[in-house]
Amino acid sequence: MERPYVVMNVAATADGKTDTSERRGAPISSPRDKARVDRLRAEADAVMVGGRTLSGDDPKLTVKSESLRAERVARGLSENPAKVGVTSRLDVRPESQFLAAGPARIILITTTRADQKQIGALRARGVEVLVAGEMRVDLPDALAQLKALGIQRVLVEGGGTLNFALLRLGLVDELHVFIAPLIFGGESAPTLAAGVGLARVDALSLQRTGVDVWDDGGVLIHYALSQ
Ligand SMILES: NC(=O)c1ccc[n+]([C@@H]2O[C@H](COP(=O)([O-])OP(=O)(O)OC[C@H]3O[C@@H](n4cnc5c(N)ncnc54)[C@H](OP(=O)(O)O)[C@@H]3O)[C@@H](O)[C@H]2O)c1
Repeated sequence: MERPYVVMNVAATADGKTDTSERRGAPISSPRDKARVDRLRAEADAVMVGGRTLSGDDPKLTVKSESLRAERVARGLSENPAKVGVTSRLDVRPESQFLAAGPARIILITTTRADQKQIGALRARGVEVLVAGEMRVDLPDALAQLKALGIQRVLVEGGGTLNFALLRLGLVDELHVFIAPLIFGGESAPTLAAGVGLARVDALSLQRTGVDVWDDGGVLIHYALSQ
């Protein structure tokens, strides 16, 4: 395979929103779901997010559980998976948690239009900067470069623009959707997949591979992507 195995995870409300319309990374997962996502992270070689999630939510993307980190180390892995940000203009604040929280290998995937000085400054602080594409990150190329760096399994954690681009290109193997018993509403609140959207005839079809109904009111649905 020319790319790593890709698992996408999303937490949504019952009305399909992945954040409020304020777009500040509103919590959606229950404590049990957070623990599940922590395990998914611990099982991944890299955790990937899109540029707006990177700048807006400023996620740490580290494994929270001490025992899961210890398990990784016992398997000969680093404490945390690599963190991967997809950003065409390399729009990352130097003091961001994405860069600071760790220890973790940090990889930014950008385009030829990124500022060379900024690339140099990031590399000087140990960030690996990969270039794939011109206007937007070329995602098949980006995944192939990650594979060449030894990354076999990627967990994609949003947002909807990156999710849609990956799904549309057939670059996702599994999709996990946690539906929380909440409603956010809001026409402009983000959803699982954004982008330009698809006509009904082009809709991506999913194969449901599992459903877990939880006591906390949440439902977890596992899908495989029909490639
Ligand atoms: N509930 C959840 O599971 C969850 C998880 C994550 C995020 N979220 C929410 O999702 C929202 C952010 O999502 P979003 O859709 O606005 O942004 P996003 O998917 O996080 O980031 C999209 C950005 O990535 C960069 N990019 C570069 N190349 C790309 C390519 N080929 N395809 C797609 N993106 C590319 C672009 O930004 P540049 O031009 O800057 O490069 C693009 O605008 C936030 O409200 C966040 O809280 C929810």
